[in-house]
Amino acid sequence: MREPVIAGNWKMYKTTGQAVQFAEELKAADLPGGCRVVICPPFTALHAVAGILKGSPVELGAQNMHHLEEGAFTGEVSPLMIRDAGCRYVILGHSERRQYFGETYRGVNLKVVSALEHRLVPIVCVGETLQERESGRTEEVVSRQLAGSLAGLEAGQAGRLIIAYEPVWAIGTGRTASAADAQQVNRFIRDLLAESFGRDTAQTVPILYGGSVKPDNAAELMARPDIDGALVGGASLDVGGFTAIIRAAAGY
Ligand code: 13P
Repeated sequence: MREPVIAGNWKMYKTTGQAVQFAEELKAADLPGGCRVVICPPFTALHAVAGILKGSPVELGAQNMHHLEEGAFTGEVSPLMIRDAGCRYVILGHSERRQYFGETYRGVNLKVVSALEHRLVPIVCVGETLQERESGRTEEVVSRQLAGSLAGLEAGQAGRLIIAYEPVWAIGTGRTASAADAQQVNRFIRDLLAESFGRDTAQTVPILYGGSVKPDNAAELMARPDIDGALVGGASLDVGGFTAIIRAAAGY
């Protein structure tokens, strides 16, 4: 049995004061057991939020990192730094990083390997564009992205990952993949993991869905056997909406 994971990707939202207030409210909320909850604030708020979350089951993640521990890389943040700020998770290869900041899966691969070396849990994002879906290339694209970002990993390392299937056309658009379509791609990803790392490993890896997940569509998505949780953007910025999604996930 895979425990569901609900991760909130705050993107470039919330000052430290706003983040602290959210964390205090989430900590005080009556969260159900049986669901792993992670929030990923901007770098500037990580340390303060980690302080609030101490003693709470809610865990902390970053939204990106450089693969090296230190160096002359203006504007970058290293795995040591996010660990030091209290993170256990890191989102890698988000489509916004690929689309606006030129990230490639070769670069994502370096980050995945580095994150694992630093005992961080990478949340590796894959997903096709609308054009790729409409031309029937979803599986080809997702399999290339997965192979690129996980190149060179061994089964033991792959077993420590979280994968998030995030179709680009569903992110921030209000257009969710149908539960059946998301299940189909998540199942395809699990089969790819099984081919590369063995069935046992593939069965342990949580595969999330992301893209316009809201309180009113979460339960339907979570009910599918290969959707093990959600990477939530917009709806994770509001404590009420986020806890409703957590409750929906805990029901499965
Ligand atoms: P939305 O939930 O706002 O569509 O964002 C999804 C996402 O990109 C999470 O990483």
